[in-house]
Amino acid sequence: MTNRNSNHLDIKFKKMMEDYKEHKGSLIPALQTTQEVYGYLPKEAMEYISQVLEIPFSEVFGVATFYAQFRLQPRGKHVIKVCSGTACHVRGGPHILKEVEKQLHIKSGETTNDNKFSIEPVACLGACGLAPVMMIDEETFGRLTKERVHQILDSIE
Ligand code: FES
Repeated sequence: MTNRNSNHLDIKFKKMMEDYKEHKGSLIPALQTTQEVYGYLPKEAMEYISQVLEIPFSEVFGVATFYAQFRLQPRGKHVIKVCSGTACHVRGGPHILKEVEKQLHIKSGETTNDNKFSIEPVACLGACGLAPVMMIDEETFGRLTKERVHQILDSIE
């Protein structure tokens, strides 16, 4: 089964979604698989899921936007995770996040227009002794200040 917007979806993906048809309550696993395949949830993929699982699109979209694990936009080239764990929170984590958002002109959960950066919400990054902490891709930056945030972001191409 296809719809007019599903032409860009590959056959393997469509087959995976058809397999979910047999199982009740498979919307979330179907969305998780979609995100593994595409890195986010393309609108046409959600439309396809809606059609195959016979669930209204509004419901598919509602679930996709409700859970923080799902992304509706492609990830940027660099993913920034500012820790919101307790140790970081008490040592100024919220100010660090605000600074990153301000410098990139996006909010947590969003991607810059040039697709260079995404900010993603995260709990403890496991480096509490270095609080406040953020990660950019695989690199951890600790004992952050607003000035340091500027330097770090400016140094990334
Ligand atoms: S609370 Fe931030 S690294 Fe643990």
